[in-house]
Amino acid sequence: MAIDKGLDGAVTNKSKVGYVDGDKGRLIYQGYPVETLAENANYEEVAYLLIFGKLPNEAEYAEFDSKLKAQRKMPIEVVKIMDIIYDHKHSHPMSLLRTAVSVLGVLQKNVMDTSRENELRMGMHLIASMPTVIAALHRLRLGLKPVEPDITLSHVENFLYMLHGKKPAALDVKLLEISMILHADHGMNASTLTAMATSASLSDLYSSIVGAIGSLKGPLHGGANEVVLQEFLKIKSIAHVTEYVAGKVAKKEKIMGFGHRIYKTYDPRAAVMKKYASKLKEEVEMFKIAEVLDKEVVAKYGSKGIYPNVDFYSGIIYKHLGFETNFFTTIFAAARISGWLARILEYRAENRIFRPRDVYIGEFNKEFVERKKRV
Ligand SMILES: CC(C)(COP(=O)(O)OP(=O)(O)OC[C@H]1O[C@@H](n2cnc3c(N)ncnc32)[C@H](O)[C@@H]1OP(=O)(O)O)[C@@H](O)C(=O)NCCC(=O)NCCS
Repeated sequence: MAIDKGLDGAVTNKSKVGYVDGDKGRLIYQGYPVETLAENANYEEVAYLLIFGKLPNEAEYAEFDSKLKAQRKMPIEVVKIMDIIYDHKHSHPMSLLRTAVSVLGVLQKNVMDTSRENELRMGMHLIASMPTVIAALHRLRLGLKPVEPDITLSHVENFLYMLHGKKPAALDVKLLEISMILHADHGMNASTLTAMATSASLSDLYSSIVGAIGSLKGPLHGGANEVVLQEFLKIKSIAHVTEYVAGKVAKKEKIMGFGHRIYKTYDPRAAVMKKYASKLKEEVEMFKIAEVLDKEVVAKYGSKGIYPNVDFYSGIIYKHLGFETNFFTTIFAAARISGWLARILEYRAENRIFRPRDVYIGEFNKEFVERKKRV
């Protein structure tokens, strides 16, 4: 029996939500190139597009937006629990976010109702409240009180406002907007598959998203952005890039922020991120390291289809926005929730539980030996 390790090549379902064209380096959300959406839309419009299949008109936008705003506030129980269990040295923000989403699910009524209407309601609750959780975690870590959401602000403006306690600059809003749009969906990746596989057993949406956050946390998936920035800090200056690459090649180690299962050319999201990261005067030294590293790794491995992925330039932007390094993947999660939800709702319409097979390579008919006689 042929084995598709990592389900490489396995096709699970049909989808209109998004398309990753790895050969041409294109990413499409419901028919629109992601670059067009990043430049022109806001996160709420993109979330609506992914879920409903069309960009909202004024009335649809107003209704969607007001429903999201109404659900931004985080129940006090979640803040209290986070405050009690928060260990500044050891708790990774992704573990805390995963726990907070689980608690939000415990506090919700009617979670096992898998009707589209109810799953949409719960999904919008998570789109609205995940930034509130993340901003509160960020502030608790700094010994500050969480800031209440401001419903006069857009989704992204409010996220930054809750993070820093002051209205954000227009450039910062744009930076987080494009980052969240670029991360909102990406085909059948590990976390999306985890979300869908959990949901397909007719489990509740919160359980599916808890699983997805756990999968996204890994350094081969969303966690790469965090490691990339740590590597830039280790490299220190462009003078050390060549030596760094040579060291990685000699040790046969992967260079974080490069390579992708689907893209065998430049990741279109990395190109947009690079354009915006290049504008940041305060991050110019780090950007220079990234740019030189980008060139050297592409020169070395481009022929193998290894190019920068979305996580390569995103850390520079997140650092500029005032997020601590270990919070980077939480922003990815707060963005990807729309894609997870859109795909769960789409799959639900023709739901079938996931059940791949494995090849048993163990023995048969072994003789049982009592414990005291075992060697
Ligand atoms: C993303 C990733 C997991 C895709 O993995 P994959 O499709 O399973 O590809 P593989 O890990 O099998 O790698 C295929 C080949 O490319 C090489 N390769 C892949 N990514 C590489 C990288 N970042 N640096 C150097 N070599 C890399 C592998 O060493 C392997 O080489 P080989 O055929 O000579 O053994 C992988 O590229 C990676 O680990 N990248 C670094 C982590 C990262 O940035 N993740 C974020 C993804 S958005």
